[in-house]
Amino acid sequence: MKNKSLDICMAVLGIVLLVIFGASAYVTGHTQVMESKKVGSISEISIPEVPEVTTDRLNGVVSAAEWESHYPDIYASYMKNAENTGHGGMRISYVETDPDIQVIYDGMGFSFDYTEAIGHNFTLNDIAETTRPHKLANCLTCKTPDMTAMVNAMGKGVYSMDFDEMYAQVSEPVSCYNCHGNTPGTMVITHDYMADAMNDEIAASRVSGSVVSCAQCHIEYYFDPATKATSVPYDSLDNLDPDSILAFYNKMGFVDFTNKNTGVGMIKVQHPEFETFMGEGSVHKGMYTCADCHMGVSYNEKGDPYANHFLSSPLENEALLKDTCSMCHADLPAQVKAIQEEITGREKQISAMLVEINTKLAAAIDSGSLSEDVINQIKSLDRDAQFYWDFVYVENAEGAHNSALSRQCLDKAEALAKQALALLG
Ligand code: HEC
Ligand code: HEC
Ligand code: HEC
Ligand code: HEC
Repeated sequence: MKNKSLDICMAVLGIVLLVIFGASAYVTGHTQVMESKKVGSISEISIPEVPEVTTDRLNGVVSAAEWESHYPDIYASYMKNAENTGHGGMRISYVETDPDIQVIYDGMGFSFDYTEAIGHNFTLNDIAETTRPHKLANCLTCKTPDMTAMVNAMGKGVYSMDFDEMYAQVSEPVSCYNCHGNTPGTMVITHDYMADAMNDEIAASRVSGSVVSCAQCHIEYYFDPATKATSVPYDSLDNLDPDSILAFYNKMGFVDFTNKNTGVGMIKVQHPEFETFMGEGSVHKGMYTCADCHMGVSYNEKGDPYANHFLSSPLENEALLKDTCSMCHADLPAQVKAIQEEITGREKQISAMLVEINTKLAAAIDSGSLSEDVINQIKSLDRDAQFYWDFVYVENAEGAHNSALSRQCLDKAEALAKQALALLG
C-alpha cells in the first residue's frame, strides 16, 4: 500500500486546486451549478477523466454495467448493494411486527404489504412483486433511471402512463444515471420535481448535491391529483418541516387514502429522510452529507481511494466509525440504539392510541351518539395525529437523523390523539 500516501497527497492537492479554481460543476436539471468541495469527504478524491460511453439503451441511459470497465471499484461497490436483503438476510414484514398498521392504514396497500427497505439493486423486482395496487407509471419514479430519462425527454405526461406499459420498457434498477446523468464524477439532479424544488438552494450553496441526489427519492412526496405527476410538498429548505407540509396538504384538502372503518381522508407519509436530516434540530446538517455517513471512502488493492457506493449504515462502516465519528462519539452504536429504542417504543404507544380512536370513532359514527360537528372535529384530529406519527414511523433512521424533531412530532401526535380520545369519551 505504499502508494496510498502519495495518492492522498495528490487528492489533497486536487482539492486545493479545486477550491482555488472554483470547484467542480454540479448540474441540476438544465442549470449548471457550482459548488465548492469539502475536505474530509468523498469529494477529496480526484475524479478520473469522464470517458465517453455510448449506448443503445432506452433514452440513452448508460447502464451501470456499461460503466464497469471505466470505474471497476465503484461498480463492484455498487453491486454490493445486492447483499443488502434485510436484517440478517431476513426481511422484516411490518404488517406482522406492527399489526396496528392493519387498522390505521386500512384502505390502502401498506395495511397488508409493507416490508423493510433493502438494497437499490432490487427496486424493479420489488415493485413487480408487491401486492399493493399500482396502476400508473408514477410508481416507478424512484425505481429506475429509464423512467427518469423518459420524463426528462417527454415531460410530466409520462407519470400518468399505464404501469404495465411502462414496466415492459424499463430494465435498470436505481443506478448511475439517477445521481450522475451520463457523466459520473459530476452530481446531476435528474428527477424533475427535485430540480424544481432545490435548484436555487444548491445554487446558493445551502445544500450539497450529495444530499439532494439522495433526496430525489428519500423524501416525502405526493402524486398531483390532476396530473398524477410525482411532486414534493415544498419548494425550499424553509418549508420542508412537518408543520408546513401538513398545512400544505390541509390547505389543498389532499387525501392519500380514505380509512375504511372511519371514512377519514388520510395522508400517507413516505420515508422523509431528507426532511429530517435537513430539518431544524439536525446536529450534522451542514457538517456532513448523506454520502459522508452512508458511503465513505474505500481503498482498492493498489491503495487507491475511491467513492464507496455500497450504501450502508454508518454503524456497519468500521473505518468511518474509527477514523471520523470516534473523534466525538465514544460509543456511537450504543447512542443510536438508545435513540431508536426510545423512538420506536413511543411509536408503538401512540399507534395503539390511533387504533383506539379508529375503533371508537367507527362505533360513534355507527351509533350516531355524537353530533356531526364533534365527529368532524375528531376526524380532523385523527388525520393530523396520524400524520405526525407517520412522519416518524416511516422515517428509515428511526430517530437517528434528528432525534429532537422525532420527539417533537411524537409529542404533537400524542397531544392530538389525546384530544380526540377525550371527545370520544
Ligand atoms: C444513489 C446515488 C448514486 C448512484 C446510484 C451512483 N453514484 Fe456515484 N456518487 C454519488 C455520490 C453522492 C458521490 C460523492 C460525491 C461527493 O460527495 O463528492 C458519488 C461519486 C462518484 C464518483 C466521483 C468520486 C470518485 O471516486 O472518483 C464517480 C466517478 C462515480 N460516483 C461513479 C458512479 C458510477 C459509475 C455509478 C454506477 C455504477 C454510480 N456512481 C452510481 C452518488 C451515486
Ligand atoms: C432513484 C431513487 C433513489 C435514489 C436517488 C436513492 N435511493 Fe436509496 N433507496 C431507494 C429505494 C426505492 C429503496 C428501497 C429499495 C427496496 O426496498 O426495494 C432504497 C433503499 C436505500 C437503502 C437501504 C435501506 C435499508 O434499510 O437497508 C439505503 C441505505 C439507501 N437507499 C440510501 C441512499 C443514499 C445514501 C442515497 C444517495 C447517495 C440514495 N439512497 C439515493 C431509492 C433511491
Ligand atoms: C466534531 C464532533 C462530531 C463528529 C466528528 C461526529 N459527531 Fe455526531 N454528534 C456530535 C454532537 C455534538 C452531537 C449531539 C450530542 C450528542 O447527541 O452526542 C452528535 C449527535 C449525533 C447523532 C444523534 C443525532 C440526534 O439527533 O440525536 C448521530 C446519529 C451522530 N451524531 C452520528 C455521527 C456519525 C455517523 C459520525 C461520523 C461520520 C459523527 N456523528 C461524527 C458531534 C460529532
Ligand atoms: C451524521 C450521519 C448521517 C447522515 C449525514 C445521514 N444519515 Fe442516514 N442514517 C444515519 C444513522 C446513524 C442511521 C441509523 C443506522 C442504523 O440503524 O444502523 C441512518 C439510517 C438511514 C437509513 C436507513 C438505512 C439503514 O441502514 O438503517 C436511510 C435510508 C438513510 N439513513 C438515508 C439517509 C439520507 C437520504 C440522508 C441524507 C438526506 C442521510 N441518511 C444522512 C446517519 C446519517
